[in-house]
Amino acid sequence: MKNIVILISGRGSNMQAIVKACQQEQWPARIVAVISNKADAGGLAFAEEHQIPAIVVPSKGAASREAYDAELQRQIDAFSPDLVVLAGFMRILTPAFTAHYENRMLNIHPSLLPSFVGLHTHQQALDAGVKVHGATVHFVTAELDHGPIVAQAVVPVLDGDDEDTLAQRVLVQEHLIYPRAVRQFIEGRMTVEGNCVRITAEDA
Ligand code: GRF
Repeated sequence: MKNIVILISGRGSNMQAIVKACQQEQWPARIVAVISNKADAGGLAFAEEHQIPAIVVPSKGAASREAYDAELQRQIDAFSPDLVVLAGFMRILTPAFTAHYENRMLNIHPSLLPSFVGLHTHQQALDAGVKVHGATVHFVTAELDHGPIVAQAVVPVLDGDDEDTLAQRVLVQEHLIYPRAVRQFIEGRMTVEGNCVRITAEDA
């Protein structure tokens, strides 16, 4: 069994999709903890309902970014994770933290990277006038919203779309590609070669 720790800051719909897929598809893994930097994160209740330790490591009032990440790392590592999954975890991470979880920490970003890093990605896409938009699962590196790309999903940008309609269309895809990517990692089917991620077939 592989151990997965999921970090959230909010509603945690991607975390929920991963927990459900892990249970329903009987992955050789368990979600050993859901950790939030915010006490009011909606996703914490879901974790508790599913008997998953739901832990708050509050970022508010932390002495420094380094001190916070060191404490977060300590709490994560208490669960001996094979994989750390960022699912709407809204923090910029220190290089020491990202280095510690090199090649074993995934993130989902709501754009087709390398386009539209940072916040308000759907508005960025609308402002740029792109015809397709989407989401990206990637390994986390020290550079924000960069790192080897694992999976992407594309959605059309439709006439009349606003930030919300576009976000909803992208989110549907996020809930498909993120659990699939986590499963591929857990099954040992993912190798990182420089910037490129190779995924071997299920029966390879
Ligand atoms: C998602 O759009 C994800 O791509 C981004 O933050 C949002 C989190 O949503 N990183 P949820 O908390 O998983 O519902």
